[in-house]
Amino acid sequence: MAGASLRSVEAPGGRFDPRRLRREFPIFERNPGLVFLDSGASAQKPCSVIDGIAEFYRTDYANVHRGVYKLSGRSTDRFEAAREKTRAFLNAADEREIVFVRGATEAINLVAQSWGPAHMRAGDEIVISDVEHHSNIVPWQMLRDRLGLKLVVAPTDDTGEFDLAAFEALLSPRTRLVAVTHISNVTGATLPVARIVELAHAVGAKVLVDGCQAVPRMPVDVRALGCDFYVFSGHKAYGPTGTGVLYGRYDLLESMPPWQGGGGMILNVEIDHTEFQEPPHRFEAGTPDIAGVVGLGLALDFIEGIGRDAIRDHEEALTGYAVDRVSRIPGVKMVPGGQRQLSVFSFNIDGVHPHDVGTVLDQHGVAVRVGHHCAQPLMEKLGLAGTVRASLGVYNDEADIDRLAEAIGACREMFQR
Ligand code: ALA
Repeated sequence: MAGASLRSVEAPGGRFDPRRLRREFPIFERNPGLVFLDSGASAQKPCSVIDGIAEFYRTDYANVHRGVYKLSGRSTDRFEAAREKTRAFLNAADEREIVFVRGATEAINLVAQSWGPAHMRAGDEIVISDVEHHSNIVPWQMLRDRLGLKLVVAPTDDTGEFDLAAFEALLSPRTRLVAVTHISNVTGATLPVARIVELAHAVGAKVLVDGCQAVPRMPVDVRALGCDFYVFSGHKAYGPTGTGVLYGRYDLLESMPPWQGGGGMILNVEIDHTEFQEPPHRFEAGTPDIAGVVGLGLALDFIEGIGRDAIRDHEEALTGYAVDRVSRIPGVKMVPGGQRQLSVFSFNIDGVHPHDVGTVLDQHGVAVRVGHHCAQPLMEKLGLAGTVRASLGVYNDEADIDRLAEAIGACREMFQR
């Protein structure tokens, strides 16, 4: 469905054309002149997702895994088809490795609360990086305090690049888990996940990857990466809010107890005993966000309809253009994003608070995120109260970056007066 509509917006020969793709997103028609540079926080939604969800509610909706009637069967088929799509999208080995959750935050909390106590004990260590989002810090701090673990932080260097040598030196037989982001939501740095996995596995540690910023914009193959867990949020990948995915290797999911009890995750309940389902249903207690998951499947269709190689190539080139353009503006200081910066970049304007910059940019129709970006430890390391962050989507082009640069110029003038 999404593929069909996309063919109609692609230029002849399939050239990537953000202007034409933008027409798939009603938000731009309803908000003329909007320059949306906050897809890292949440991406806009294409018609195929918006209309597809409405159509699902009109046509096939009922509760899943519970009804004997045909309609419930169709609804269940649509829901489970999204699981298979997600498996294929991540190249997981088995669709039972795909657990639907509310978002990446919930996925990480699930692993922390279920896998954590089953596999770690006092004195064990978890290694994270210094560019993590709070959702990949706080659940591990909570687990540390509960079990008596140690939280170890692997640094990025002055160029924003993850320091592999420093990381390797921090690993030890006490390391049980490495939890890192694939792409920083602040700097756009891409972490060398496959190498991180090799080094972690060499000391017997498992690896969880936060793929929120990677999944919407580059091919992700969990088997090629070799990671044990991979998580992402649907809403950053052009899908609905309240949806997300935990990929976990099946043998690991099988070794994990349920983390929430309720309907849907049981085989048999007696008043003093319950037998649980196998994964993934063991981790999906209660009625799930059925239409949301169907919408997530449509969002993955949308991404696949364009092609992740094409999206990455476009966003990589646009990131290069943007960083070059913005960094040349006098008074602008960029936050370095390493050698493989993708789709996200942060900066400050000398003497102007990021919130003031954000307000002025908004007056010029440019939507960016300002503040600490849920990465306060990184802000502390950088010695910054916050940054202005721009993040790209398939609908952005060079004209958007030019508008951003003009608005930054206007902001500088305003505050220099
Ligand atoms: N995690 C989202 C962001 O980086 C909300 O903006």
